[in-house]
Amino acid sequence: MGNTDKTAAASKDSYNATVIQRVNITPRLSIFRIRPDEDFKFSAGQFTVLGLTHAAPRLPDADAEEPDPTRQARLIRRAYSISSGSQEQEFVEFFISLIGSGQLTPRLFCLKVGDRLFMGTKATGVFTLDRVASDKQLLLIGTGTGLAPYMSMVRTLALGEGCPVRPMVVLHGARYSWDLGYRAELESLGRACGGFRYLPVITRPQDDPSWNGLTGRLDRILDLPELSKQIGFSLNPQSCHVFLCGNPEMVEGVATLLQGRGFDPGSRKEPGNLHMEKYW
Ligand SMILES: Cc1cc2nc3c(=O)[nH]c(=O)nc-3n(C[C@H](O)[C@H](O)[C@H](O)COP(=O)(O)OP(=O)(O)OC[C@H]3O[C@@H](n4cnc5c(N)ncnc54)[C@H](O)[C@@H]3O)c2cc1C
Ligand SMILES: NC(=O)c1ccc[n+]([C@@H]2O[C@H](COP(=O)([O-])OP(=O)(O)OC[C@H]3O[C@@H](n4cnc5c(N)ncnc54)[C@H](OP(=O)(O)O)[C@@H]3O)[C@@H](O)[C@H]2O)c1
Repeated sequence: MGNTDKTAAASKDSYNATVIQRVNITPRLSIFRIRPDEDFKFSAGQFTVLGLTHAAPRLPDADAEEPDPTRQARLIRRAYSISSGSQEQEFVEFFISLIGSGQLTPRLFCLKVGDRLFMGTKATGVFTLDRVASDKQLLLIGTGTGLAPYMSMVRTLALGEGCPVRPMVVLHGARYSWDLGYRAELESLGRACGGFRYLPVITRPQDDPSWNGLTGRLDRILDLPELSKQIGFSLNPQSCHVFLCGNPEMVEGVATLLQGRGFDPGSRKEPGNLHMEKYW
């Protein structure tokens, strides 16, 4: 889905949620915990929208915007995948990257604990495990904040059924090791749960000399024997489902590669074994 729902004829009066915690991973990457005023239900992997009015302040070092007095009261709304587990009652969590030239994120990054904003009252999307048979192996591939839906899936399973019973691998690509949000949590889960593996990969090791893990863009390294060994199962369309999320060029690149090997996105009505969520 695209960001078609960009602005709406609503205003600050529609603010219906409160920031209850923020964890800054880097100055450009933050985890927001938001408590909606009303109960909110979702399936792991779904997204909802967040919004602030044009009048909300922007970070001073973000790109400047032309002031438009006619739009000040209107909401800027964008889609965000939920990263919390679906059993979480206290808050709904989001993992968000700052886009300096963007409309909403330079405003979201000004928010402090206690500040109000708009949060969609429903969750949307079919990028979930709901229609994946329980015996299928799962390879969950994401770049940047494209990790968010997998956090929700992993946490939902870990909080509910305990360790995932089937092989489940999260392959997370980021520029630098410091962009690997949730790394400690995923590493602990990897140590505690036999069936779960967390494989972080960075693409700019020349600027991150202490990194000694996997490197390279995900579409180029998927076939490396070193990575195949760490995934622990073969990419067989009969036994495995692959999820792709985040940078649209990564999603397209890896999807093309896998479609050449028999993976199939299917249709909305009859999903195949290749699931995709493009962030822009
Ligand atoms: C289903 C869905 C789920 C999403 N979930 C998340 C999420 O969990 N976390 C998150 O940070 N974003 C997520 N996004 C992206 C988010 O909706 C916004 O597009 C993003 O936050 C930028 O909003 P903005 O108003 O600041 O920039 P805009 O004014 O909308 O756009 C600026 C431009 O920046 C580019 N852009 C947008 N997002 C990114 C990005 N992440 N990295 C690099 N360039 C980008 C696009 O070219 C866009 O046209 C999701 C998008 C979709 C469709
Ligand atoms: N992360 C930062 O330190 C930083 C700094 C300044 C600005 N920003 C801005 O912040 C926004 C989000 O940055 P981000 O780093 O989270 O997201 P991103 O630019 O989507 O990069 C995330 C990961 O995806 C990889 N990638 C990009 N295009 C790909 C493709 N076609 N195929 C496969 N992999 C691909 C990147 O590799 P590559 O490294 O090879 O691109 C990187 O490892 C961007 O607008 C960016 O300009 C980020």
